[in-house]
Amino acid sequence: MSIIKGFHHLTAGVSGAQEDVDFYVKLLGQSLVKKTVLLDGEDPIYHLYYGNANGDPGTLVTSFPFRQKGVRARPGSGQVRVINYSVPRDSLEYWRDRFRAKGVSYAQDMTERFGERRQRFYHPCGIEFDLVETDHDGRLPCTSEEIPEAVAIRGVHSITLSLREVAESIIFMTDALDFRHVGDAGPYHRFETSTGGPGMVVEFLHEPERHQGSSIYGEGTVHHVAFAVDSVDQQMILKERFMAMGYIDTSESVNRNYFRSMYFKMPGGVMFEATTTDIGFAIDEEPGHFGEEFQVPPWLKGRKDELLGRLEPIAV
Ligand SMILES: [Fe+2]
Repeated sequence: MSIIKGFHHLTAGVSGAQEDVDFYVKLLGQSLVKKTVLLDGEDPIYHLYYGNANGDPGTLVTSFPFRQKGVRARPGSGQVRVINYSVPRDSLEYWRDRFRAKGVSYAQDMTERFGERRQRFYHPCGIEFDLVETDHDGRLPCTSEEIPEAVAIRGVHSITLSLREVAESIIFMTDALDFRHVGDAGPYHRFETSTGGPGMVVEFLHEPERHQGSSIYGEGTVHHVAFAVDSVDQQMILKERFMAMGYIDTSESVNRNYFRSMYFKMPGGVMFEATTTDIGFAIDEEPGHFGEEFQVPPWLKGRKDELLGRLEPIAV
């Protein structure tokens, strides 16, 4: 049994908050699962969580709208380059029509890799997304008034990392993280964990000429990817394994209110996180009411109104 169960969340720096809500909720049919805050220095920045209605691990993509601070990140290698969402077979034509009708930029041609058809499209801040067709995703569909179940997104399918070199990172994925190296296709290398399939797939894209991207929080890049683990005990088993192998660049277990996070850099430079699934989003809002109110962690309770007053109002 691998310690890592699949994805927990992906976190990106985006532009404006309302533009981001419109992209995930209106365009893609995601639920706003939590509306909270990143307090970094003096200026609050929203932390917006999107996923299926239950907020299940592996469906979550979260945003820091950094336009407010005016900090831009630099896309490049050593980052998650593409966020891949899974959709049912034969749904890409629906999504292409939808992108055209809504004025969303998307690639002219569909592509295929590892037997799966894919359609590239773009977040307004420039981050790249693919919809990937699969028959093997039984997760709750993210439907809306406009998006029927037959075409609805099921969650994160996989991530595509941009790496200048891959040899050491392949060893890390297999020996440190227990992923299986299941295939290669040109510059792509595919890995799977646990039972495999959507939500458990990592791809490397070998791009030896691509300049290194930034690691800071800022507009326009995915900052890190978080993998799900059961508990802090499991996190610490991973940490001790990394240390024993010589990968000593790992954080302590950090309190993120809805989970505990342990951060580590993989050899290719991408920030990874191991996140516990033992707490969850029901600690401050009832299931069925996730994301309705602005929430702050207990240690910021006394500043809730002040923080909210300094953030751009958003409508869902
Ligand atoms: Fe995270």
